[in-house]
Amino acid sequence: MTLKNKIISIFEKNKQKTVSGQELADKLSVSRTAVWKAVNALKKEGYPIKASTNNGYILAANSDILSTEGIRLYLSSENKRFDIYVYKTIDSTNNQAKKMVAEGTAKHGTIITADEQTAGRGRFDRKFFSPAKTGVYMTVVFKPNKNAADTQLITIAAAVSVVRAVKKLTGIDTDIKWVNDVFLNGKKICGILTEATIDFESQTAESIIVGIGVNIKTEDFPKEMKKTATSLYCDNLNRNVLIAEIVNNLTVLYSDLKNKNLMQEYKRHSVILNKNISYVINGLKKEGFVTDINEKGNLIVKTSNGKVETLESGEVTIGSGNL
Ligand code: BTN
Repeated sequence: MTLKNKIISIFEKNKQKTVSGQELADKLSVSRTAVWKAVNALKKEGYPIKASTNNGYILAANSDILSTEGIRLYLSSENKRFDIYVYKTIDSTNNQAKKMVAEGTAKHGTIITADEQTAGRGRFDRKFFSPAKTGVYMTVVFKPNKNAADTQLITIAAAVSVVRAVKKLTGIDTDIKWVNDVFLNGKKICGILTEATIDFESQTAESIIVGIGVNIKTEDFPKEMKKTATSLYCDNLNRNVLIAEIVNNLTVLYSDLKNKNLMQEYKRHSVILNKNISYVINGLKKEGFVTDINEKGNLIVKTSNGKVETLESGEVTIGSGNL
């Protein structure tokens, strides 16, 4: 770990508390000059570090700078060894994860995040609006090496992980719109894009990359998104903490995807269960009533002519006459 990273780690642990230059120098076995230089470099990077009396430093409580050590600090002990990559700007954290998987440099549990994405991607080739520092844009790489069918619920687990993390850190209750959009007051605050490499012969999931975007204080959505997207609008939600909390939830759920409680929790938050919906299947526009979400995460829909359909994927709209 670099000296700067070690200092960040100490500052993050001591937010709002004074840490003296001498204390840092002693703890890290370096000179006071080395500490002073590293702290100045951190200030230049934007860390709100203030000098206090007696040559001490204080990291402001509202500091929200993404950093590997800032995230690691809040990871559970099982996850602390994960590789973490933080970018100021990147095309897409999912693209980066895919590149690393292809090169063989992404281990199980790799976390990739960025302040900003210039080409954030959503499902159905849509763009995911990802302006700098207003949200969390993160990808987690899993290397299951098990049957692809057994990993199917990872997307469901990701949505539940976000809902749990948001509730714990902000107290805000959010909902899930099938398959994996997280909603607040009828508008989307989070999208999840899961991509996998599967060995065709053995049907083994070699890697699964789970991309998650959460709007924290994003405003000025593009015109076409204004009606459907919103933010948590939380000033004091720290991005490092949110990322770590989502990863901690996700890894716990991932280790037991067959646990029935996962689907129960997902259903409790569903905004479309027992609702009329509009949807498209095989190019046909249809309407129906959602009676259940089965153990595979498929939607069970009763159409107006009494037929029961099982939707494995797709996009649905709440209410009828919406297509
Ligand atoms: C959707 O809304 O359809 C899914 C959006 C997923 C967005 C996240 S942000 C981090 C990761 N990188 C991407 O390019 N997309 C995902």
